Amino acid sequence: MKSILRGIGSYVPEKILDNKELSLKVETSDDWIRTRTGIRERRIAASDQPTSELALNAARKAIEAAQIQTDQIDLVIVATITPDMAFPSTACILQHKLGLGKVACFDLEAACSGFLYSLDVADGMLASGRYKCALVIGAEKMSSILDWEDRTTCVLFGDGAGAAIIMTEGVGPNLVGFRSGADGSNPSLLHQPAGGSKQPASIASIENREHFLKMNGKEIFKSAVRVMEKATRELLKANGLETQDVDHVIPHQANVRIVESMAQRLEIPLEKFFCNLDRHGNTSAASIPIAFDEACQRGLFRKGEIGVLVAFGAGLTWSATLIRF
Ligand SMILES: CC(C)(COP(=O)(O)OP(=O)(O)OC[C@H]1O[C@@H](n2cnc3c(N)ncnc32)[C@H](O)[C@@H]1OP(=O)(O)O)[C@@H](O)C(=O)NCCC(=O)NCCS
Repeated sequence: MKSILRGIGSYVPEKILDNKELSLKVETSDDWIRTRTGIRERRIAASDQPTSELALNAARKAIEAAQIQTDQIDLVIVATITPDMAFPSTACILQHKLGLGKVACFDLEAACSGFLYSLDVADGMLASGRYKCALVIGAEKMSSILDWEDRTTCVLFGDGAGAAIIMTEGVGPNLVGFRSGADGSNPSLLHQPAGGSKQPASIASIENREHFLKMNGKEIFKSAVRVMEKATRELLKANGLETQDVDHVIPHQANVRIVESMAQRLEIPLEKFFCNLDRHGNTSAASIPIAFDEACQRGLFRKGEIGVLVAFGAGLTWSATLIRF
């Protein structure tokens, strides 16, 4: 029994923050950001748009694309590191906004790998036979945890959401393999130090700006290339495929230089990699479903082709999904 991607949809907020406007906030330049990352602009959610609102807009589009009724959905997973609040889950908040039944809802935290981890989990839950129709979402309001005085991080991220309807019946691309992993040995490479049980909010934590995202960019860069290559090779091998069998790669949209290095190491032509990070920056868990939706809308996929979705993120986490279109 294979999971089928019945429909996909995405949403990004209206407000565009381009590199020029950003260079008025912090000491940076369009040239630096473009040449080091490939990013030209990103979307920023309005103050009255929490993550659940971004997720809601994406979910409605996925439901429409899948041509299903909302009462068919019996499982909701929201991948996010920027939930509306620590609890209840953004998935529960979304259930009410979408008017769903009293179905299973939970958030999944695997940072930028969260959407692909969620596909892996949803596939297992559908395979158990206890669930029939999963709404899987990656949604982030990264602007709410960025330090807008730290030029080394705030230029990299953006807001948005992508959603997918996964079922075991019907027509659509098949999700045929999954490979998820993590290395928790160095959590401070990319983290939000305060606000949890280790360091609850205090005047000192706020004064030290510890509720914002902190990152060791150079180390993350090196790890990203290594783990995405490894996850892709392991996924292909486990499914009896070679890198030359791959028609499309949708990588996590963090930095075009990471994508180029990965393409080189995997010896897969760069033209097979879909990139939209120039317009969105890194939207964390939303990055892959937004990119996937845009690639679908451009009609890039042909029946029978093989696709790899691959991501890495804080944790460090990584995950890869194999698709047969
Ligand atoms: C963050 C990243 C773009 C930095 O690129 P880099 O080539 O490693 O740049 P460096 O960190 O060496 O910085 C080079 C210089 O640019 C400066 N700099 C950093 N950010 C800058 C900015 N926005 N504008 C201008 N200068 C900047 C640094 O201060 C440094 O100056 P110095 O040499 O005087 O100390 C890159 O490391 C990266 O993309 N890492 C991965 C990040 C990522 O993907 N995170 C998400 C994971 S899901």
